Amino acid sequence: MSTAEELKNEALERIAAAADADALEALRVEYLGKQGTISALLKTLGKMSPEERQAEGPRIQGARAAAADAITARKDEFERAELEAKLATETLDLTLPAPDAPMGSVHPVSQVMDELAEIFVDLGFAVATGPEIEDDWHNFTALNMAETHPARAMHDTFYFPDSDADGNRMLLRTHTSPVQIRTMVEQGAPLRIIAPGKVYRSDSDATHTPMFHQVEGLVIDRDIHLGHLKWTLETFLKAFFEREDIVLRLRPSYFPFTEPSVEVDVGYSREGGRRVVGGDGNADGHAWMELLGSGMVNRRVIEMAGLDPDEWQGFAWGLGVDRLAMLKYGMDDLRAFFDGDPRWLGHYGFSPFDQPTLSAGVGACA
Ligand code: DAH
Repeated sequence: MSTAEELKNEALERIAAAADADALEALRVEYLGKQGTISALLKTLGKMSPEERQAEGPRIQGARAAAADAITARKDEFERAELEAKLATETLDLTLPAPDAPMGSVHPVSQVMDELAEIFVDLGFAVATGPEIEDDWHNFTALNMAETHPARAMHDTFYFPDSDADGNRMLLRTHTSPVQIRTMVEQGAPLRIIAPGKVYRSDSDATHTPMFHQVEGLVIDRDIHLGHLKWTLETFLKAFFEREDIVLRLRPSYFPFTEPSVEVDVGYSREGGRRVVGGDGNADGHAWMELLGSGMVNRRVIEMAGLDPDEWQGFAWGLGVDRLAMLKYGMDDLRAFFDGDPRWLGHYGFSPFDQPTLSAGVGACA
């Protein structure tokens, strides 16, 4: 028998007898490593005559391949045995009670935004967004508030010290209304959107925080009139407060971006906690509570957004989400909304499983 055959047989025997992965690795080095015995035989091939090489070559290569295959196969066996041993010892007792896991809650603002989206998407609206860092043109000018417009002063705007590349003054948006402009410019007409998001004003007390949340609504189509506005808001408020007896009061008002403008009030009572109630705000023990601003979109705004106001009309509204949450779920200090106090969140927060749906109700229990 040639040396190659002998080495092969010896290697295969020892590989089969290897006790563990370490012993196997030692054998691999001994036979197939750089200084290994089979490797040394391979090196002798170069010095052989062609005839010798033709006879010895296949034997030596065969020894190398057989040893390498045997090592791989034995390694697999070890790994399989190790896994089986692990599976046999590691058991999981599924009858044990689940450990206490710290669990977060859904913030009432997020919950109310989800409720609003659920209601309006059902009415055929899409949800739109815009940047919180806005330019002066989208936040004011295009909404019919020219530079000298007195309404600008009422917004307590946070301005940035620098202008953008085009020389626009930059600011933190003071309302979600600039999303009206962005959506009309980008999508044209007709459209139906709500735009929820954060807005910023330099203002702070029990009912005002420098950051708060609004939802803007915008409908642009042909032949839209105040009746569409009233029906839409009434349908929304009935769904949101889950009562059919909600009565709206539309009061004439003024916003530069709507003409005519209305403020919308609902009946409200302080008895048994502040609550929106059914019926008229003039009834015994009731008052009117202002909920939102709205109106027919001013022709000038439609024009500035690049649409023809003779063809397209629309209505819009803006409402405070935090305020709506307070009215529905009975909190009375807005500042606590943004303190991140786990006790407040534990009390007023919602379970992630409380998804608002129209069929199961948009009024999850806190
Ligand atoms: N943007 C107004 C604000 O923040 C709210 C508002 C009023 C929005 C009337 C509207 C609207 O779209 O039609 O005070």
